[in-house]
Amino acid sequence: MSEARGCAVVQGASRGIGLALARRLSADARFARVFATCRRPERARALRAASGAGIDVLRLDVTDEASIETAATTVAGAAGEVDLLINVAGVLHDEGPVAPEKRLESITPEGLGAAFQVNAFGPLLVLKHFHSLLRHERRAVVANVSARVGSIGDNRLGGWYGYRGSKAALNMFTRTASIELGRRAPNAIAVAIHPGTVDTALSRPFRKSVPPASLFAPDRAAGQILEVLDGLAPEQTGTFVAWDGTEIPW
Ligand SMILES: NC(=O)c1ccc[n+]([C@@H]2O[C@H](COP(=O)([O-])OP(=O)(O)OC[C@H]3O[C@@H](n4cnc5c(N)ncnc54)[C@H](OP(=O)(O)O)[C@@H]3O)[C@@H](O)[C@H]2O)c1
Repeated sequence: MSEARGCAVVQGASRGIGLALARRLSADARFARVFATCRRPERARALRAASGAGIDVLRLDVTDEASIETAATTVAGAAGEVDLLINVAGVLHDEGPVAPEKRLESITPEGLGAAFQVNAFGPLLVLKHFHSLLRHERRAVVANVSARVGSIGDNRLGGWYGYRGSKAALNMFTRTASIELGRRAPNAIAVAIHPGTVDTALSRPFRKSVPPASLFAPDRAAGQILEVLDGLAPEQTGTFVAWDGTEIPW
Protein backbone atom coordinates (compact mmCIF):
# COMPACT_ATOMS: atom_id res chain seq x y z
CA MET A 1 0.00 0.00 0.00
CA SER A 2 1.67 3.23 -1.04
CA GLU A 3 -1.19 5.73 -1.06
CA ALA A 4 -3.73 6.28 1.72
CA ARG A 5 -6.48 3.97 0.57
CA GLY A 6 -6.16 1.19 3.06
CA CYS A 7 -8.78 0.15 5.54
CA ALA A 8 -8.01 -1.26 8.97
CA VAL A 9 -10.41 -2.81 11.48
CA VAL A 10 -9.48 -3.22 15.13
CA GLN A 11 -11.96 -5.43 16.98
CA GLY A 12 -11.87 -4.85 20.77
CA ALA A 13 -10.56 -1.28 20.92
CA SER A 14 -12.19 0.25 24.02
CA ARG A 15 -8.96 0.09 26.05
CA GLY A 16 -5.60 -1.65 26.44
CA ILE A 17 -3.82 -2.99 23.40
CA GLY A 18 -6.79 -2.51 21.06
CA LEU A 19 -7.12 1.19 21.84
CA ALA A 20 -3.36 1.67 21.31
CA LEU A 21 -3.56 -0.16 17.96
CA ALA A 22 -6.48 1.99 16.79
CA ARG A 23 -4.63 5.17 17.74
CA ARG A 24 -1.45 4.10 15.93
CA LEU A 25 -3.34 3.05 12.81
CA SER A 26 -5.26 6.33 12.68
CA ALA A 27 -1.88 8.11 12.52
CA ASP A 28 -0.60 5.77 9.78
CA ALA A 29 -0.76 7.54 6.43
CA ARG A 30 -1.38 4.26 4.59
CA PHE A 31 -4.85 3.88 6.09
CA ALA A 32 -7.62 6.13 4.87
CA ARG A 33 -10.19 4.41 7.08
CA VAL A 34 -9.78 2.94 10.55
CA PHE A 35 -12.76 1.20 12.13
CA ALA A 36 -12.49 0.46 15.84
CA THR A 37 -15.10 -1.75 17.45
CA CYS A 38 -16.14 -2.19 21.05
CA ARG A 39 -19.11 -3.72 22.81
CA ARG A 40 -20.23 -0.54 24.65
CA PRO A 41 -19.28 2.60 22.70
CA GLU A 42 -21.14 4.75 25.24
CA ARG A 43 -18.66 3.65 27.95
CA ALA A 44 -15.51 3.71 25.76
CA ARG A 45 -14.63 7.33 26.47
CA ALA A 46 -10.97 7.14 25.37
CA LEU A 47 -11.93 5.51 22.10
CA ARG A 48 -14.70 8.02 21.45
CA ALA A 49 -12.18 10.82 22.05
CA ALA A 50 -9.91 9.21 19.44
CA SER A 51 -12.76 9.10 16.95
CA GLY A 52 -12.02 12.79 16.30
CA ALA A 53 -8.63 11.59 15.06
CA GLY A 54 -10.17 9.73 12.14
CA ILE A 55 -11.39 6.56 13.79
CA ASP A 56 -14.90 5.30 13.10
CA VAL A 57 -16.28 3.62 16.21
CA LEU A 58 -18.68 0.70 15.71
CA ARG A 59 -20.53 -1.42 18.24
CA LEU A 60 -19.50 -5.07 18.20
CA ASP A 61 -19.84 -7.58 21.00
CA VAL A 62 -18.10 -10.82 20.06
CA THR A 63 -20.72 -12.80 22.00
CA ASP A 64 -23.51 -11.29 19.87
CA GLU A 65 -23.24 -12.53 16.28
CA ALA A 66 -25.84 -10.07 15.01
CA SER A 67 -23.64 -7.19 16.16
CA ILE A 68 -20.68 -8.68 14.26
CA GLU A 69 -22.76 -9.00 11.09
CA THR A 70 -24.01 -5.43 11.40
CA ALA A 71 -20.47 -4.09 11.86
CA ALA A 72 -19.25 -6.05 8.82
CA THR A 73 -22.12 -4.69 6.72
CA THR A 74 -21.24 -1.14 7.81
CA VAL A 75 -17.56 -1.59 6.92
CA ALA A 76 -18.48 -3.19 3.59
CA GLY A 77 -20.75 -0.27 2.74
CA ALA A 78 -18.26 2.41 3.78
CA ALA A 79 -14.95 0.95 2.62
CA GLY A 80 -15.70 -2.12 0.49
CA GLU A 81 -12.43 -3.87 1.32
CA VAL A 82 -10.25 -4.46 4.38
CA ASP A 83 -6.44 -4.55 4.35
CA LEU A 84 -5.86 -5.23 8.02
CA LEU A 85 -8.17 -6.94 10.51
CA ILE A 86 -6.96 -7.33 14.09
CA ASN A 87 -9.03 -9.30 16.60
CA VAL A 88 -7.97 -8.05 20.01
CA ALA A 89 -10.80 -8.59 22.50
CA GLY A 90 -9.94 -11.14 25.14
CA VAL A 91 -10.69 -12.07 28.73
CA LEU A 92 -8.60 -13.66 31.48
CA HIS A 93 -10.67 -12.48 34.45
CA ASP A 94 -13.86 -10.50 34.72
CA GLU A 95 -16.57 -9.57 37.18
CA GLY A 96 -18.49 -12.63 36.08
CA PRO A 97 -17.48 -16.27 35.92
CA VAL A 98 -14.08 -15.94 34.19
CA ALA A 99 -11.08 -16.41 36.48
CA PRO A 100 -7.62 -17.91 35.93
CA GLU A 101 -8.16 -21.29 37.58
CA LYS A 102 -5.16 -22.64 39.49
CA ARG A 103 -6.67 -26.03 40.29
CA LEU A 104 -9.16 -28.42 38.76
CA GLU A 105 -11.59 -27.70 41.62
CA SER A 106 -11.88 -24.07 40.44
CA ILE A 107 -13.19 -24.92 36.98
CA THR A 108 -16.80 -24.03 36.19
CA PRO A 109 -18.73 -24.61 32.98
CA GLU A 110 -19.78 -20.93 33.06
CA GLY A 111 -16.20 -19.69 33.32
CA LEU A 112 -14.92 -22.02 30.60
CA GLY A 113 -17.86 -21.14 28.36
CA ALA A 114 -17.39 -17.40 28.73
CA ALA A 115 -13.63 -17.60 28.07
CA PHE A 116 -14.18 -19.66 24.93
CA GLN A 117 -17.00 -17.35 23.75
CA VAL A 118 -14.81 -14.26 23.87
CA ASN A 119 -11.30 -15.59 23.20
CA ALA A 120 -11.96 -18.29 20.63
CA PHE A 121 -15.46 -18.19 19.12
CA GLY A 122 -15.48 -14.38 18.89
CA PRO A 123 -12.53 -13.91 16.52
CA LEU A 124 -13.73 -16.82 14.37
CA LEU A 125 -17.21 -15.32 14.05
CA VAL A 126 -15.63 -11.99 13.15
CA LEU A 127 -13.73 -13.75 10.38
CA LYS A 128 -16.96 -15.45 9.25
CA HIS A 129 -18.51 -12.05 8.59
CA PHE A 130 -15.44 -10.11 7.42
CA HIS A 131 -13.56 -12.63 5.25
CA SER A 132 -15.19 -11.57 1.99
CA LEU A 133 -13.72 -8.06 2.52
CA LEU A 134 -10.20 -9.54 2.51
CA ARG A 135 -10.59 -10.94 -0.99
CA HIS A 136 -8.86 -8.41 -3.23
CA GLU A 137 -5.72 -7.88 -5.27
CA ARG A 138 -3.64 -6.26 -2.50
CA ARG A 139 -1.97 -7.91 0.47
CA ALA A 140 -4.32 -8.36 3.42
CA VAL A 141 -3.53 -9.39 6.99
CA VAL A 142 -5.72 -10.95 9.68
CA ALA A 143 -4.14 -11.03 13.12
CA ASN A 144 -5.77 -12.78 16.05
CA VAL A 145 -4.26 -11.57 19.30
CA SER A 146 -3.50 -14.78 21.16
CA ALA A 147 -1.17 -15.44 24.09
CA ARG A 148 1.97 -17.50 24.54
CA VAL A 149 0.20 -19.42 27.33
CA GLY A 150 -2.08 -20.80 24.59
CA SER A 151 0.86 -22.76 23.23
CA ILE A 152 0.50 -26.45 24.06
CA GLY A 153 4.17 -27.16 23.35
CA ASP A 154 5.32 -24.30 25.61
CA ASN A 155 3.04 -25.15 28.57
CA ARG A 156 5.24 -25.97 31.55
CA LEU A 157 3.35 -24.35 34.44
CA GLY A 158 -0.22 -25.57 33.97
CA GLY A 159 -3.23 -23.71 35.40
CA TRP A 160 -5.39 -21.10 33.66
CA TYR A 161 -7.48 -23.83 32.03
CA GLY A 162 -10.08 -21.60 30.40
CA TYR A 163 -7.63 -18.98 29.15
CA ARG A 164 -5.01 -21.46 27.91
CA GLY A 165 -7.62 -23.71 26.33
CA SER A 166 -9.48 -20.88 24.62
CA LYS A 167 -6.27 -19.36 23.22
CA ALA A 168 -5.16 -22.82 22.01
CA ALA A 169 -8.55 -23.10 20.29
CA LEU A 170 -8.05 -19.63 18.80
CA ASN A 171 -4.68 -20.77 17.47
CA MET A 172 -6.29 -23.81 15.83
CA PHE A 173 -9.06 -21.65 14.35
CA THR A 174 -6.44 -19.27 12.97
CA ARG A 175 -4.49 -22.07 11.33
CA THR A 176 -7.64 -23.68 9.94
CA ALA A 177 -8.96 -20.39 8.56
CA SER A 178 -5.58 -19.61 7.00
CA ILE A 179 -5.93 -22.76 4.89
CA GLU A 180 -9.42 -21.81 3.71
CA LEU A 181 -8.34 -18.22 3.05
CA GLY A 182 -5.47 -19.62 0.97
CA ARG A 183 -8.17 -20.75 -1.47
CA ARG A 184 -10.73 -17.97 -1.07
CA ALA A 185 -8.64 -14.87 -0.33
CA PRO A 186 -5.18 -15.85 -1.55
CA ASN A 187 -3.54 -12.50 -0.78
CA ALA A 188 -4.56 -12.74 2.87
CA ILE A 189 -2.07 -13.73 5.56
CA ALA A 190 -3.66 -14.97 8.81
CA VAL A 191 -1.64 -15.29 12.00
CA ALA A 192 -2.05 -15.63 15.74
CA ILE A 193 0.16 -13.14 17.57
CA HIS A 194 1.41 -12.92 21.16
CA PRO A 195 1.78 -9.28 22.24
CA GLY A 196 4.21 -9.89 25.12
CA THR A 197 3.28 -8.93 28.67
CA VAL A 198 1.52 -5.61 28.40
CA ASP A 199 0.57 -3.11 31.10
CA THR A 200 -3.22 -3.41 30.93
CA ALA A 201 -6.07 -4.39 33.24
CA LEU A 202 -5.83 -7.96 31.94
CA SER A 203 -2.25 -8.54 33.15
CA ARG A 204 -2.33 -6.29 36.26
CA PRO A 205 -2.97 -8.99 38.92
CA PHE A 206 -0.38 -11.42 37.51
CA ARG A 207 2.84 -9.62 36.80
CA LYS A 208 4.73 -9.29 40.09
CA SER A 209 7.49 -11.47 38.72
CA VAL A 210 7.72 -9.69 35.35
CA PRO A 211 10.91 -7.58 35.12
CA PRO A 212 10.07 -3.94 34.23
CA ALA A 213 11.98 -4.20 30.95
CA SER A 214 9.68 -7.05 29.86
CA LEU A 215 6.44 -5.20 30.65
CA PHE A 216 5.40 -3.17 27.62
CA ALA A 217 3.26 -0.05 27.63
CA PRO A 218 0.22 -0.56 25.37
CA ASP A 219 1.51 1.93 22.79
CA ARG A 220 4.86 0.18 22.58
CA ALA A 221 3.14 -3.21 22.29
CA ALA A 222 0.93 -1.85 19.51
CA GLY A 223 3.97 -0.56 17.62
CA GLN A 224 5.71 -3.93 17.94
CA ILE A 225 2.63 -5.83 16.78
CA LEU A 226 2.20 -3.60 13.72
CA GLU A 227 5.89 -3.93 12.82
CA VAL A 228 5.63 -7.73 12.90
CA LEU A 229 2.42 -7.70 10.83
CA ASP A 230 4.02 -5.35 8.29
CA GLY A 231 6.93 -7.72 7.84
CA LEU A 232 4.95 -10.97 7.41
CA ALA A 233 5.74 -12.95 4.27
CA PRO A 234 2.92 -14.83 2.49
CA GLU A 235 4.40 -18.17 3.54
CA GLN A 236 3.99 -17.18 7.20
CA THR A 237 0.23 -17.47 6.96
CA GLY A 238 -1.13 -19.95 9.50
CA THR A 239 1.65 -19.42 12.04
CA PHE A 240 1.81 -18.25 15.66
CA VAL A 241 4.23 -15.35 16.06
CA ALA A 242 5.43 -13.27 18.99
CA TRP A 243 5.82 -9.49 19.35
CA ASP A 244 9.47 -9.76 18.29
CA GLY A 245 8.70 -11.70 15.11
CA THR A 246 9.85 -15.09 16.40
CA GLU A 247 7.66 -18.12 15.79
CA ILE A 248 6.01 -19.79 18.82
CA PRO A 249 5.46 -23.57 18.85
CA TRP A 250 1.83 -24.65 18.80
N1 LIG B 1 -1.93 -7.72 28.54
C1 LIG B 1 -1.17 -8.79 28.37
O1 LIG B 1 -0.13 -8.95 29.03
C2 LIG B 1 -1.54 -9.81 27.33
C3 LIG B 1 -0.66 -10.91 27.15
C4 LIG B 1 -0.99 -11.87 26.19
C5 LIG B 1 -2.14 -11.74 25.43
N2 LIG B 1 -2.97 -10.67 25.63
C6 LIG B 1 -4.17 -10.58 24.80
O2 LIG B 1 -4.26 -9.28 24.26
C7 LIG B 1 -5.63 -8.96 24.00
C8 LIG B 1 -5.96 -7.57 24.57
O3 LIG B 1 -5.78 -7.62 25.96
P1 LIG B 1 -5.49 -6.33 26.84
O4 LIG B 1 -4.29 -6.65 27.62
O5 LIG B 1 -5.54 -5.11 26.01
O6 LIG B 1 -6.74 -6.45 27.83
P2 LIG B 1 -7.79 -5.38 28.41
O7 LIG B 1 -7.14 -4.06 28.59
O8 LIG B 1 -8.40 -6.08 29.58
O9 LIG B 1 -8.83 -5.25 27.21
C9 LIG B 1 -9.69 -6.31 26.88
C10 LIG B 1 -10.56 -5.84 25.75
O10 LIG B 1 -11.44 -6.91 25.35
C11 LIG B 1 -12.74 -6.36 25.23
N3 LIG B 1 -13.79 -7.36 25.37
C12 LIG B 1 -13.99 -8.22 26.39
N4 LIG B 1 -15.10 -8.93 26.16
C13 LIG B 1 -15.62 -8.49 24.98
C14 LIG B 1 -16.76 -8.82 24.20
N5 LIG B 1 -17.65 -9.74 24.60
N6 LIG B 1 -16.97 -8.19 23.00
C15 LIG B 1 -16.10 -7.25 22.60
N7 LIG B 1 -15.01 -6.87 23.30
C16 LIG B 1 -14.78 -7.50 24.48
C17 LIG B 1 -12.80 -5.32 26.34
O11 LIG B 1 -13.92 -4.47 26.15
P3 LIG B 1 -14.69 -3.74 27.40
O12 LIG B 1 -13.95 -2.45 27.63
O13 LIG B 1 -16.05 -3.55 26.86
O14 LIG B 1 -14.62 -4.66 28.57
C18 LIG B 1 -11.45 -4.65 26.12
O15 LIG B 1 -11.46 -3.77 25.04
C19 LIG B 1 -6.46 -10.09 24.62
O16 LIG B 1 -6.87 -10.98 23.61
C20 LIG B 1 -5.48 -10.76 25.56
O17 LIG B 1 -5.78 -12.12 25.77
C21 LIG B 1 -2.70 -9.70 26.56
